[in-house]
Amino acid sequence: MSSANNTSTNSVKAPPKHIAIIMDGNGRWAKSRNLPRSSGHQKGVKSVRTIVKHCAKIGVNTLTLFAFSSENINRPSEEVGLLFKLFLTVLRNETKKLKDNNIKLDIIGDLSVFTPEIQDHAENAQQQLQNNTGLNLVIAANYGGQWDIAEAAKKIAVKAAKGEINPESIDNKVFSAHTALAQYPRVDLLIRTSGEVRISNFLLWDIAYSELYFCETLWPDFDANELDIAINNFHSRDRRFGERNGEK
Ligand code: IPE
Ligand code: IPE
Ligand code: MG
Repeated sequence: MSSANNTSTNSVKAPPKHIAIIMDGNGRWAKSRNLPRSSGHQKGVKSVRTIVKHCAKIGVNTLTLFAFSSENINRPSEEVGLLFKLFLTVLRNETKKLKDNNIKLDIIGDLSVFTPEIQDHAENAQQQLQNNTGLNLVIAANYGGQWDIAEAAKKIAVKAAKGEINPESIDNKVFSAHTALAQYPRVDLLIRTSGEVRISNFLLWDIAYSELYFCETLWPDFDANELDIAINNFHSRDRRFGERNGEK
């Protein structure tokens, strides 16, 4: 299908309900310009703004962004410190804008590694935005797919030990209800930028039937047009979910 056709198809089709993005390539973006990694991360925040705005505009229900993996804490302390500082600045500066745009915020991950100041701002931002009814923005911070699954198992085990759950009743649905994304529609489209073709411990449970889209563009260069291309590609997929599409 030509790209012109793809564009017109997109204008009539509903966007994916839930898009998740592994925002990768900030370091390489900076390196290719002889800039410090911090510039790449800062430019990456601009892409976040653009993509959040675009998702809200086109009517995406939920956008889940991988901001910091549970393994990223093992980077040199200088970079971790820089990323923590940037996270705090974003929480401070962006909450009002999110409020004005009716965007709800949910931060998932093991937040205990962050400073008390970051934890307070994260809590505060989520509270301030909890009654918004537009785009659900989910930020995965110190998040790991394996952590999420282990947490769900722990929650279920605690309930089972208290007699609140019958172990025999535990199935996919019960398990899903205890994961970090329980309240959101299933992930339709998972995007990874920067040419790496792996999941890097992002969503594991949730991507059982997601469409996967990998592009070469580095995250700081990813814009609304790039997202539209990914969505058009998504619309061209034949999603069968193991069935046979209308055939009897
Ligand atoms: C993604 O960019 C941002 C985070 C992981 C926090 P990277 O920092 O991984 O950039 P590359 O992959 O080194 O280019
Ligand atoms: C995944 O990217 C994490 C985020 C984008 C937040 P990484 O750059 O950390 O992943 P690897 O090391 O290439 O697998
Ligand atoms: Mg990377």
